[in-house]
Amino acid sequence: MINQKVQKLLSTMSLKDKIGQLVQFGKLEQREIELIKNGKVGSLLNVYGAERVNEIQKIAMESGASIPLLIGDDVIHGYKTIFPIPLGESCSWDLQLIEETSAIQAREASTEGINVIFAPMVDIARDPRWGRVAEGAGEDVYLGSKIAAARVKGIQRNDWSDRPKIVACPKHFIGYSAAEGGRDYNSVDISERSLRETYLPPFKAAIDAGAGTIMCAFNDLNGVPASANKFLLTTLLRDELKFEGVVISDWESIEELIYHGLAKNKRDAAIKAMNAGVDIDMNSSSYNDHLMELVQAGDFSVDLIDEVVTRILKLKIKLGLFDNAITDIKLCNEIIRCEEHVKKAREAARKSIVLLKNNNILPLNKNIKSIAVIGPLADDKSNPLGCWSFKGKPENVITVLRGISNKVSNITEIYHTRGSGILESEESEIQKAVEIARKSEVAIMVLGESSDMSGENHNRSSIGIPECQRKLIGEVLKTGTPMVLVLMNGRPITLVSENDTVTAILETWQLGDESGNAIADVLFGDYNPSGKLVMSFPRNVGQVPIYYNYKSTGRPNFKKYLDVDETPLYPFGYGLSYTNFSYKNMVLEKHKITQDESLRVTIEIENCGLVEGEEIVQLYIRDLVASITRPVKELKGFQKIFLKPGECRTIEFILKHEELGFYDENFNFIVETGEFEIWIGTSSVEGLKSGFEVVK
Ligand code: GLC
Repeated sequence: MINQKVQKLLSTMSLKDKIGQLVQFGKLEQREIELIKNGKVGSLLNVYGAERVNEIQKIAMESGASIPLLIGDDVIHGYKTIFPIPLGESCSWDLQLIEETSAIQAREASTEGINVIFAPMVDIARDPRWGRVAEGAGEDVYLGSKIAAARVKGIQRNDWSDRPKIVACPKHFIGYSAAEGGRDYNSVDISERSLRETYLPPFKAAIDAGAGTIMCAFNDLNGVPASANKFLLTTLLRDELKFEGVVISDWESIEELIYHGLAKNKRDAAIKAMNAGVDIDMNSSSYNDHLMELVQAGDFSVDLIDEVVTRILKLKIKLGLFDNAITDIKLCNEIIRCEEHVKKAREAARKSIVLLKNNNILPLNKNIKSIAVIGPLADDKSNPLGCWSFKGKPENVITVLRGISNKVSNITEIYHTRGSGILESEESEIQKAVEIARKSEVAIMVLGESSDMSGENHNRSSIGIPECQRKLIGEVLKTGTPMVLVLMNGRPITLVSENDTVTAILETWQLGDESGNAIADVLFGDYNPSGKLVMSFPRNVGQVPIYYNYKSTGRPNFKKYLDVDETPLYPFGYGLSYTNFSYKNMVLEKHKITQDESLRVTIEIENCGLVEGEEIVQLYIRDLVASITRPVKELKGFQKIFLKPGECRTIEFILKHEELGFYDENFNFIVETGEFEIWIGTSSVEGLKSGFEVVK
């Protein structure tokens, strides 16, 4: 059926029409409109508003071969209802929630004619200096792969029939997050083993979840930029992963082959990108300017063009664009920022919060007599939106000050002042902060990064709280008023001195519209924090890269640094609760399994505290001896459970044999015999340990 439709369309298309399908522009001005009328454009991005999109779709359908447009957009953590940045939401470890928030984002975007969402960003990140860690799911392959699949399923749920569907676009293929020095766009030099074991699995998971497009990366990978890398885009993606969807370049990444020193000019860049397997040229115009003459000169066959156009037309047919590319304007009012979406945003925000420290001060009492709310981010309405939230609106943001005001009783005296800028000190403000802290029972310090201190090409060489804010902490601490540090940031940050001095620390990332309500829910105990870190927090930036699943080395017990402990300040999987969960009676069904058997493990978890709460139970393994060195620990399972006070539950894990495998020296996936350690616990460093053996 689809093939017949494609063949029929191809038969009506001129070579110009066909090449037009490979062209995408990132703005809609007179030039692009003329090109569309001439059938020379197949997709757009950065076109906003249902009316505008409907108008340009009608022009496309009345031009050339009457082919509707793909309309792409960066919906990374919300369209108009803004959710926590992905690095934050990933700390919920709640796959159902993540799928749901992704579905909501797509639902809203589709009402304004978007049909390609340039998400999820699935780059495994281990360098917090890199600004784009904010967009991803952290350092772990297992968790990152599960989240990648959940996001694709959510984005592509397409639970509507009255408008075109939406397709996901996992990015950036591949290795982008391994940029040297955490400098965005920088060179990447990684082994095929690292590529296959660390960076590829989330893309495979996204493809297996049905992702319809993939975006190739900017970076030079081992000497060949991803946008010209045939091994990546054809051998790996097409031949090995059997990806049949559409490959879209990153923004002008084809033209950037010139600046990489790989292409002489845009004509040469177009040749290299086409040969590698890039289907759509995002905004560089290399394909628009040169493909026609290249085909006419015999450099490319019409068959190759037809092969690419076929993939693009199939996608457009599957999205329903030929049935009806127009969206009903009324839908926007019904769907965008509806009550259900805003409620889900608050739930996602609460579950993203990680309690890092609590010396018995949290949760606060709602009848507290006086509270000082201090910091440049305490009543800030734009920075909680985080990076990539261009359609979010500051007026929709509930600030921390507002959230606290909504929460406390009418006997509570709330004092507020900024105390400092985000990057500049304000002496008078510091004095005000000291005064209000002195007369309050607790000082809530809302500090951290502005939203533009992370995100694309917003990298930092030092990753602490800005100096002026640390000075403010120091001055307020002198009052002796207990301090709760509420952090807003887009990356792991270094907190060693604060960790020693403040009474409690809440990591709240950038939580989107419902920030203040969610933070107040946690501060006052209406929600018991359950988040767990998905990226290690280093003690200082000199430890970077730092992650939990490192290799042992031949000298594991040697001191790593003269001047700092080798461990992170807060490890992967770490997060506190207002209650205590005890882990007991871990039972392995067997202590010997064959290479194709699964292992059933049970464990009892009890809520020994006085409040209900959720616990993210984590299962890790270690392959003690193998033909390729294995990490000292690998996450291979997790479950999020809710327990009432005193409730005890036995939970079961089925550890599948393929979770024990790895790529041998020839990159064949194998499960070897040998001994394994297994941990089940509340973080990557705390849990019950046992062992088993894989036998022939
Ligand atoms: C940007 C980003 C990519 C984004 C694209 C379109 O430079 O690298 O993630 O989807 O351009 O905005």
